[in-house]
Amino acid sequence: MPRDRKAHLPAPSLTSGLREVEPLPPVRLENVSKVYRDPMTLRPFTAVDGVSLTLERGEILGLLGPNGAGKTSTIKMILGLTRPTRGVIRIEGRDPWDSDARKRLGYLPENPCFYDHLGAAEYLDLVGALFGLSRVASRRRSEALLARLGLAAHARKPLRKFSKGMTQRLGICQALLNEPSLLVLDEPMSGLDPIGRAEAKQLLREERDKGTTILLSSHVLSETESLCDRVAILHRGRVHEVGGVSELLSSGVLEWEIAVDSLSDERAAILRSRGHSVQSVGRRWVVRVERESEVQEVLRDLVQERATIRSVEPRRESLEDYFVRALGADGRPAS
Ligand SMILES: Nc1ncnc2c1ncn2[C@@H]1O[C@H](COP(=O)(O)OP(=O)(O)O)[C@@H](O)[C@H]1O
Ligand SMILES: [Mg+2]
Repeated sequence: MPRDRKAHLPAPSLTSGLREVEPLPPVRLENVSKVYRDPMTLRPFTAVDGVSLTLERGEILGLLGPNGAGKTSTIKMILGLTRPTRGVIRIEGRDPWDSDARKRLGYLPENPCFYDHLGAAEYLDLVGALFGLSRVASRRRSEALLARLGLAAHARKPLRKFSKGMTQRLGICQALLNEPSLLVLDEPMSGLDPIGRAEAKQLLREERDKGTTILLSSHVLSETESLCDRVAILHRGRVHEVGGVSELLSSGVLEWEIAVDSLSDERAAILRSRGHSVQSVGRRWVVRVERESEVQEVLRDLVQERATIRSVEPRRESLEDYFVRALGADGRPAS
């Protein structure tokens, strides 16, 4: 999506008197802060500190940061569940407290908790009614979503019998029921097993491709790295950096990992003497070579020794590595 949209807009037409205006961003935060007060001592605590952020239509933005970074507080302000202490939030130009702003909004709370005597389908009927959907439309949509999230067989089961993962899946169903144009998910991957996470990611990609704007938070960076178009790194209430995942991560290769089935002690010693790292991993050996120019030579030697080479892979920086580098191992921003 072009960043500078103004450049693509036609020149104002004098004859019509009308001018195309730039579409309002789905979400805009301007210098937003949230200060909580300890109920006993009344001491203020700044949980969100001057956050400015704009979501672009049809993107998946990941709000990433360690526990306590201020992700949930930021999300609750965007949803109009709590007021910012300072700053301005707009959802398509509207105040989040304006109920019109929330009509096309879907939300998955951090720890969803539902009326546990209801069944899944019954609960979705209730959500549909709250959104003002017709019963037929609501049922059609909920049946499709329950099937999509693997809950069709559990549609009548009371929610108290749902596991954490099933509850999370139902939470995703309710967030999508009103076909939102803005979807806000607080830690959507928590409680899901690897298959559930892969399915949820696929579903979110499909929603994004339909034009839905998605904001999701996560403290487990690797879970969302492959999903987000952009990420905002939040730390101690401040946005530390915003950018495309590939821009934030150094695109360069950190090292090459060569996995082999067997390795003689002599060869291991030679490789180590040349500055490569050699480690046994299970029944295999992994040789790590930093310089690409030396990879061919190492491979040639290994082949000559009749070692079976299983894989040669570049290892790039992950968002986890980035996090440690940018914020320091102790979580303090590196100076
Ligand atoms: N209602 C509240 N009252 C007081 N402090 C709060 C409240 N909600 C959150 N906090 C504090 O604000 C900080 C940020 O919390 P939160 O937004 O939940 O972070 P995250 O979602 O990134 O883990 C934490 O230190 C938390 O204890
Ligand atoms: Mg949170």
